[in-house]
Amino acid sequence: MRSSTILALAASFSTTSAVSKGFNYGATQNDGSVKVEADFTAEFNAAKSLVGTSGFTSARLYTTVQSGGGPISAIPAAISTSTELLLGIWVSGGAAGVQTEIDALTSAIQTYGTSFTDLVIGLSIGSEDLYRNSPTGIAAKAGVGADPSAIVDAINKVKTALAGTTLANVPIGHVDTWTAWVNGSNTAVAEACDWIGMDAYPFFQSTEANAIDQGKSLFVEAYQNTQAMSAGKPVWITETGWPVSGAASGAGIASIANAKTYWDEVGCGFAFDQINTFWYTLQDAYPTTPDPSFGVVGTTLSSTPLFDLSCSNITATSTNSSSTATEAASSAKTAASSAASVGGGLSPSQGAGNGGSGLNGTASTTLASVAAGSTGTSGSGSSSNGTYVATSKTAAGGASSTSTASSSSSSTTTASSNSGSAISGSAFAGLAGALLAMVFAL
Ligand SMILES: *[C@@H]1O[C@H](CO)[C@@H](O)[C@H](O)[C@H]1NC(C)=O
Ligand SMILES: *[C@@H]1O[C@H](CO)[C@@H](O)[C@H](O)[C@H]1NC(C)=O
Ligand SMILES: *[C@@H]1O[C@H](CO)[C@@H](O)[C@H](O)[C@H]1NC(C)=O
Ligand SMILES: *[C@@H]1O[C@H](CO)[C@@H](O)[C@H](O)[C@H]1NC(C)=O
Ligand SMILES: *[C@@H]1O[C@H](CO)[C@@H](O)[C@H](O)[C@H]1NC(C)=O
Repeated sequence: MRSSTILALAASFSTTSAVSKGFNYGATQNDGSVKVEADFTAEFNAAKSLVGTSGFTSARLYTTVQSGGGPISAIPAAISTSTELLLGIWVSGGAAGVQTEIDALTSAIQTYGTSFTDLVIGLSIGSEDLYRNSPTGIAAKAGVGADPSAIVDAINKVKTALAGTTLANVPIGHVDTWTAWVNGSNTAVAEACDWIGMDAYPFFQSTEANAIDQGKSLFVEAYQNTQAMSAGKPVWITETGWPVSGAASGAGIASIANAKTYWDEVGCGFAFDQINTFWYTLQDAYPTTPDPSFGVVGTTLSSTPLFDLSCSNITATSTNSSSTATEAASSAKTAASSAASVGGGLSPSQGAGNGGSGLNGTASTTLASVAAGSTGTSGSGSSSNGTYVATSKTAAGGASSTSTASSSSSSTTTASSNSGSAISGSAFAGLAGALLAMVFAL
């Protein structure tokens, strides 16, 4: 082998090895039962050994608290399976809830030491809190959210608590829908973050042309519009996916075939090994199958997926083509300013259980309603006394629209490093005035 080839290979390996790839993991099963260490261990092992693919060795969590108190049992499971962690601090439980999360995190650092902290690739302070507090989220009864100042306050509290610990330099971010990120009123959150976590689900963009054929272009638009307001900070893909089953959403049809197309085009062709990506999701159908269901393994947890995950027919487009990046950033800037009011969430909610922890029954009730919301993620909250409020969800999406353009953070746009297709201003204009909402009621 020529040395130049070897060098090129070495360079490509060193580039990709730094990129994380994994799934989202709720704190509960979708019947509300609380996951214990063995559940997380089984999930992490299944993800690692998925037939036809490899490298799904990172896990995004929504909460750091185990129902009943203390650090979530996903932590020892991650240690025993060498699984990287994108930890989550649930913010919508209020200041007391944030403190419970911080206490669990600092306890985990003390209990597990560097065998834990060496696995932590990031920490998300909140999940879709801004979306839930947006007009669309409120109209959709998405549940309790948090405003930008509460998230920034939580970020500062976490940083203070982590000072002097082995997690003092952990990259801190926040996860929200792309529609929340392009809202110029939320820029304080982006400014407080080291990285931006973006959730985007073209399937739920039911007021758009959102058939699977448009899946990739809608996703890329969402990504680039988020990037355009990120002030150059990395944009991580914290949730995306296409359902394998369930009712249609506009022109979006849930099917295994479409889930494979989306996996191939968005996962293999854009995200995997190029951008930190947490797919939605490994499993959401145990013990019952939600509608829609996004899990790639179905009801029975195993390493056998419902469709071919191999990316074998896909050639990834470079995410670092500087010529198209400039064009894309420029289009995204325009789109963000004209559609800052798009709002809308694009998330499933299903029984994966996104967690959240409360200090007492009041908080638990609050979290139950949070979980019932459209966050997409699902699940339920847990109170420190171990009570878990089961959720079941009914899609009840609604859409309304306000298309008032408002100022956005686009003036802070820096050149995007992502290429993909340039955003079509006219295509995006269709989004303005189209709010989408997904409601999952308890
Ligand atoms: C790859 O393409 C061939 C030919 O179109 C098809 O038969 C095969 O199923 C595809 N494989 C995957 C993994 O998509
Ligand atoms: C992306 O492109 C820029 C400009 O050509 C270059 O400086 C940078 O190293 C590239 N990044 C990667 C990860 O290839
Ligand atoms: C924009 O964000 C602010 C702060 O989170 C929120 O109050 C407002 O409702 C959002 N507007 C839209 C259109 O989502
Ligand atoms: C836990 O809190 C819930 C909600 O307030 C309450 O209904 C339940 O009885 C409590 N359980 C225990 C064991 O204290
Ligand atoms: C329970 O939680 C609610 C909401 O966080 C809080 O207002 C209330 O003071 C708490 N009650 C107790 C007894 O801690």
